[in-house]
Amino acid sequence: MRLTADANRFGLFAFMAAVLMVAAVSTAEEDIVAIRQADMKAMAAAAKTISGMFKDSTTYKASEFKWAADTIRDKSGGVLSAHFASAADSRQSKAGPNILNERDRFDRIANDLRDYAVALDAAAQKNPGPMTAGMRMKPGEAMGGGPFGTHIRNEHELSAMPAEHAFHLMLQTCTTCHTRFRME
Ligand code: HEC
Repeated sequence: MRLTADANRFGLFAFMAAVLMVAAVSTAEEDIVAIRQADMKAMAAAAKTISGMFKDSTTYKASEFKWAADTIRDKSGGVLSAHFASAADSRQSKAGPNILNERDRFDRIANDLRDYAVALDAAAQKNPGPMTAGMRMKPGEAMGGGPFGTHIRNEHELSAMPAEHAFHLMLQTCTTCHTRFRME
């Protein structure tokens, strides 16, 4: 029967189109997962660079320190948040499903990360030569962020704190977000 054959052909066509559409959507989702994971890895590498310079201050180079801070600055805040805008249903992803329900908290942590990176960038600009004592934490200086955790209370406080302290709070910000929003 001709009609059935045509109908079948149309059915097959519709089916193929649907398959292609699903494939396109899941590719986009996998792309965004790949991008945000690559960004996270780049931030981890940048943090390692900065950490190395604090461990051995003779390796400090303002330009490299600044470049690492800028890498984190450019991949945090709104950029980071936007990569987690929808529930990416990808087996590749370890993002927690609670990100969407706790959007404000997630975005705030992402913005804190950016603020710390901006402070580190400023420190590099202020210290173009060797690493200065002013960049280091003072002996006995409290490591944590006080009763408010890692959340930045105000800009003045952030710019007054030594870069090393801001760096430690930055690393705690990574951990804070991972503990809450990344699945094991
Ligand atoms: C606002 C939340 C948030 C902040 C801040 C954050 N991360 Fe992540 N990170 C995540 C989430 C969510 C994932 C899981 C992403 C996925 O698998 O889709 C992740 C994954 C990672 C991964 C694994 C990437 C991979 O290849 O699977 C690394 C490494 C990482 N983060 C490093 C860092 C470092 C270093 C910082 C701080 C400089 C940081 N992250 C800050 C939320 C955050």
